[in-house]
Amino acid sequence: MQPQASTYGEQSFSKALPVNERFTPLRNLKDTWKKSIENPEEFWAQQAKQLDWIKEWDHVLEWDNNHARWFNGGLINVSYNCVDRHAKTSRKNKVAIIWEGEDGDRRGLTYHSLYREVNKIASALKELGIEKGNTVALYMPMVPELPIVMLACARIGAPFTQVYSGFSSGALAERVQHIDAKIIITSDGLWRRGKIIDLKGTVDKAIVDCPTVEKVIVLKRTGHPIHMEEGRDIWYDDALSLAKEKNITPESLPSDHILYVLYTSGTTAKPKGIQVGTGGYLTYITSTLKWAFDVDENDVWWCAADIGWVTGHSYIVFAPLALGLSLVMYEGAPEYPDPGRVWRIIEDYGVTKFYTSPTLLRLLMKYGDDYPKNYDLSTLKILGSVGEPINPEVWKWYYTVIGQERCPISDTWWQTETGGFMLSPAPGLELAPMKPGSATFPLPGVDPLIVDEDGKPVPQGVKGYLTIRRPWPGMLLTLFKDEERYQNYYWRKYPKAEQPLFYTGDYAIQDVDGYYWLLGRSDDVLKVAGHRLGTIELEDTLVSHQSVAESSVVGKSDEIKGEVPVGFVVLKNGYNPSKQLAEELKRHVRNIIGPIAALSNVYFVQGLPKTRSGKIMRRVIKALVEGESVGDTTTLEDKSSVDYIINALNNKPLNI
Ligand code: WT7
Repeated sequence: MQPQASTYGEQSFSKALPVNERFTPLRNLKDTWKKSIENPEEFWAQQAKQLDWIKEWDHVLEWDNNHARWFNGGLINVSYNCVDRHAKTSRKNKVAIIWEGEDGDRRGLTYHSLYREVNKIASALKELGIEKGNTVALYMPMVPELPIVMLACARIGAPFTQVYSGFSSGALAERVQHIDAKIIITSDGLWRRGKIIDLKGTVDKAIVDCPTVEKVIVLKRTGHPIHMEEGRDIWYDDALSLAKEKNITPESLPSDHILYVLYTSGTTAKPKGIQVGTGGYLTYITSTLKWAFDVDENDVWWCAADIGWVTGHSYIVFAPLALGLSLVMYEGAPEYPDPGRVWRIIEDYGVTKFYTSPTLLRLLMKYGDDYPKNYDLSTLKILGSVGEPINPEVWKWYYTVIGQERCPISDTWWQTETGGFMLSPAPGLELAPMKPGSATFPLPGVDPLIVDEDGKPVPQGVKGYLTIRRPWPGMLLTLFKDEERYQNYYWRKYPKAEQPLFYTGDYAIQDVDGYYWLLGRSDDVLKVAGHRLGTIELEDTLVSHQSVAESSVVGKSDEIKGEVPVGFVVLKNGYNPSKQLAEELKRHVRNIIGPIAALSNVYFVQGLPKTRSGKIMRRVIKALVEGESVGDTTTLEDKSSVDYIINALNNKPLNI
């Protein structure tokens, strides 16, 4: 879609109210940013020194063929930085993880107990045949054992992939196969809104197609009956009893060793395996957490996300632990058993920094102000938001009702690919006046550029595509087993640009004061409750059903989830539209991808709007779904296809 010059900028954006004028001028933030851009190597070397290295690097940055190798020659271990260096100091008895289960169970782990647990399971994994470089798949709920096994894998140099528990057996199998996992670690089930979700059953289905898997380690969480395959499946506790050593020496790993691979949706049916490194990544996430949330020793940090997503990897597990913080981790649904749950957790543990998504805020806001007002939220100092643009009215509610006009809001823009925050207010450096709904400015080391279709910079106030001009240490290494796609997808979008530009897939605009505003995805990726879903992945799944000839999926605005996917389907001859078939198609998508991909509606149509060259015009369908004007339709092959969509939306029965 062509970004257009519009009335953005002056009119709607620069009048957005700066909330805290008293923090001007921006000397410190601007100076730090300038220094980081003028001399990135010196800047990042200083940051990296906050970590413990087994051997320091020879070169801070080698930048070649769109690959950044940070701290090359350096040797480091993430598990050592997150655990040992605290467990062996005055933080030994400090609480590392405060965990609350949905059912009210509570657990606390000190840095020393974390050290013991990580070593035990690391030793067990070795006994079960995992060596440096072998891969492990995790399909686990939000329990302390999840960070524990992530740290154990990091300790022995085994790259892992955590598959979100909302994915089905098909999606799990696809990821396990792609990463060639030798072991899957899972649990019998998890609690969600008082009900058991059977994870092990899903693993049993997936594993049929996963020949590389030798063992399945099963943590007992719900205690419901499950099948244990003789010789293959082993209970987590029994695995621990295999542990021979109390202390597993952390592997000395090169800075670009793969820490994890995290699969995320893109613009094709196949998810992309974001390959994440070690030394650069850990440097980047610890620095950015300090800048955006001004964290220190006394903080109680709560990132209310799921570890199945990058937010949880970077900012529940690795960065907070590397900084020696106490963190809160919650297992279940945020409004269970009542909509005061989140606020009660903040009161109970004295949370000081709280980080969550606009979708959760919209959900909780819906229940009114009495719930938060019933709890003592006075410990809060900084609030954060991530996953999609935050609506200004939600921002204001967060600021006034939750933060009581005392807490800055760090609206952090970033992606799975970036590893850590990229654009965000930086109260840990110096807080610029905030504007509700703007992620404000780039953090140090981040060099954004908004461009047009040709990769040419657009003027301030004009909407364009957000790109990044230079490497940063948190940046993905490549796409796992798919270097070609890495180059094409991220670096070859703008061949006419003056220099290679990293493509983010987002629209953005810079207002007359220089503030950045994110305006949603510019590609075929949806953001459903903050989660990324590829429309093509959904379309391919619909077409895999025997009744479907063609399909198109677009996002429809939703008050709580931001957007929800709706499907338009052309049936094959011999099939008739019916309510039952619509339900079956929804079920089909849930079964293949998982509950996360629930279609909100399926409409039957006689044909889809296409260009003469046969490309489906999602833009037209999207406009119709939102009740907007369809714009220019001169390239449409068949004008009546627009009526098909309108009729379907108006619920007029089909006569095929
Ligand atoms: C996409 C990345 C980053 C961790 C969670 C999502 C959108 C993310 C913001 C924000 C506006 C945002 C973008 C981005 N996004 N944060 N603060 N304001 N949009 O990671 O699944 O990789 O999604 O989320 O569209 O490209 P992800």
